[in-house]
Amino acid sequence: MDIRDEHYNLGEWNQLIESCLSDPDSEPLLNLERDENPVYDAIFVGGGAGGRFGSAYMKAMGGRSLIIDAWPFLGGSCPHQACVPHHLFSEAAEELDRMKWFSDELFFPKFDPSRASILALVKLFLAGRGSAHAFMNWQTKEQLDVEFVLNAHATIVDRNTVAAAGRTFTARNLVLGMGARPVLPDIPGLDLEGVYDFVSLVEELDYEPTRCVIIGGSKVAMEYGSFFQATGCDTTIVSRSQLMRTKALHHVDEDLRQYVVEGMRKRGMTIIDQAVPVSVNGVDGRVSSVTVRLSTGEETTLDTDFVFLGTGERPTVAQAREALGIEVGPTGRVAVNKRMQTSVPGVYAIGDMIDGPMEMFKARKSGVTAARNIMGEDLEFDYTEFPDFFHTTYEVTWVGLTEAEARERFDDVIIIQMPPTVEGLDTPNLPLPCAEGTMLYAFSKPELSGFQKLVVDGASRKVVGAHHVGYGAKDAFQYLDHLIHSPDGLTIDTLGWMNELFLNPEHFIQLSRLRAGNQTLRDL
Ligand SMILES: Cc1cc2nc3c(=O)[nH]c(=O)nc-3n(C[C@H](O)[C@H](O)[C@H](O)COP(=O)(O)OP(=O)(O)OC[C@H]3O[C@@H](n4cnc5c(N)ncnc54)[C@H](O)[C@@H]3O)c2cc1C
Ligand SMILES: NC(=O)c1ccc[n+]([C@@H]2O[C@H](COP(=O)([O-])OP(=O)(O)OC[C@H]3O[C@@H](n4cnc5c(N)ncnc54)[C@H](OP(=O)(O)O)[C@@H]3O)[C@@H](O)[C@H]2O)c1
Repeated sequence: MDIRDEHYNLGEWNQLIESCLSDPDSEPLLNLERDENPVYDAIFVGGGAGGRFGSAYMKAMGGRSLIIDAWPFLGGSCPHQACVPHHLFSEAAEELDRMKWFSDELFFPKFDPSRASILALVKLFLAGRGSAHAFMNWQTKEQLDVEFVLNAHATIVDRNTVAAAGRTFTARNLVLGMGARPVLPDIPGLDLEGVYDFVSLVEELDYEPTRCVIIGGSKVAMEYGSFFQATGCDTTIVSRSQLMRTKALHHVDEDLRQYVVEGMRKRGMTIIDQAVPVSVNGVDGRVSSVTVRLSTGEETTLDTDFVFLGTGERPTVAQAREALGIEVGPTGRVAVNKRMQTSVPGVYAIGDMIDGPMEMFKARKSGVTAARNIMGEDLEFDYTEFPDFFHTTYEVTWVGLTEAEARERFDDVIIIQMPPTVEGLDTPNLPLPCAEGTMLYAFSKPELSGFQKLVVDGASRKVVGAHHVGYGAKDAFQYLDHLIHSPDGLTIDTLGWMNELFLNPEHFIQLSRLRAGNQTLRDL
């Protein structure tokens, strides 16, 4: 279907996308200029976060890019199945958590568990997710002026040719941005009804779970687990490693980790770590329990009507390997250098297809890095250091070194922390830190009001790490990351002289000011 001359509004895009999604035989959507046999500067295979940003940047630089995507919308997995539902569910978890702690207190009604439904939130997401898809299609066509073929599976023919929608397209370069999909661990019983991952949860859930066993101990496990528990679905997390101690997460401070995990326990979650899931068991084709081998070697069986897998994702690299002979690294991801160039000249890979954090900043910036190199710039993108976050019922955010990492690297490490660790101080009753989202807790349940820690190298006075559990700090961490990792770094003196917007979610500015007068810095 040639849509080049159509200028759909958001409602029309929404309808078109929905009709394509509901009809497997629907036609590809072609937004192509009218010239014959064009040679693009690059074909972006996959129009997710990486492909969309890379192709738009290339177009803005005067290049000619083409996106081909199997879905009838641009933007990829983030708005369809991953980040956006996660944020909706995590916000619901935060709200539900507050309503439960304050049930029948102050102006809060008595908490009614029958109104807290996983299924209702999934349906809310499904009813609304099309608007992001429609907007991204409209923006990419009408504002960014990028050519695309949607609703069409792409087949890589060679390093200059891609087949899709019954045609072949030619380019000087290929950019592979085909994302990653959930990994199913090798555990018997995963084919039973009632076993879900983050994709099937939104696509297929059709009942209200009452008890949940989660397999995994990283972001997806903890975020979705916290949401399920907040709705009243009794949740147990079974994790091979200690929670948050998986290889995929770096710079996790132990005090922050303990505050987060303890917070999950306080909210009624059962956490079984250093344990191996042995089998998922069923009755009449439906999941009924999970057998787990504990760290003691004993086996235990957990009854459940819902199993949720948070066991990571892997890219599909078979096609690129077969068609191009591309090098794939030991983690199963496409090997690239810092310009996003693969082992095959003229072929780039971006986003979740390559190693490094599977996060939006890396997907988008790696797409842009590929585009800028193709357009003649010599640009490297190093994503070894970055700010990170996830949710429980809190927002958990961190950047730079943990206290332990800093102590290995520097002789004189200064910690500025709230609440401070002082024997006998009775910090559970200290209503600090408090700010956005924790004021009510501070005045009635102070131990729930969050945790924060700043790590400073005493000799250079530079901030080397920041760690935060609470609400509303994520934005600040984007800028803290930039300042900490800038060539001059960020000293406690500069931080302590910034203008805080009091009460501020991170108390780092005012706490630094209390210590910046010390010639020899001290903990606080
Ligand atoms: C549950 C969850 C929550 C997350 N939350 C966050 C968050 O809060 N913040 C954050 O920064 N990151 C988050 N992430 C990570 C983020 O979603 C990914 O890093 C990001 O979406 C990767 O973008 P991408 O462009 O590499 O791939 P994708 O966005 O997955 O895009 C790949 C595209 O390629 C297309 N494709 C694949 N094969 C073909 C083919 N053969 N032909 C045509 N098209 C093809 C697909 O249709 C898809 O559109 C989350 C991930 C998960 C799983
Ligand atoms: N920014 C965000 O808020 C956000 C939110 C969600 C997801 N994401 C991104 O999405 C990606 C996927 O997240 P994820 O949490 O699913 O994956 P992940 O970080 O890769 O962690 C996978 C978890 O599954 C466990 N696991 C793997 N195979 C297993 C097996 N066979 N048996 C038992 N346990 C197994 C791992 O245990 P071990 O540690 O023992 O290996 C680990 O705990 C991540 O890279 C993440 O960055 C981002």
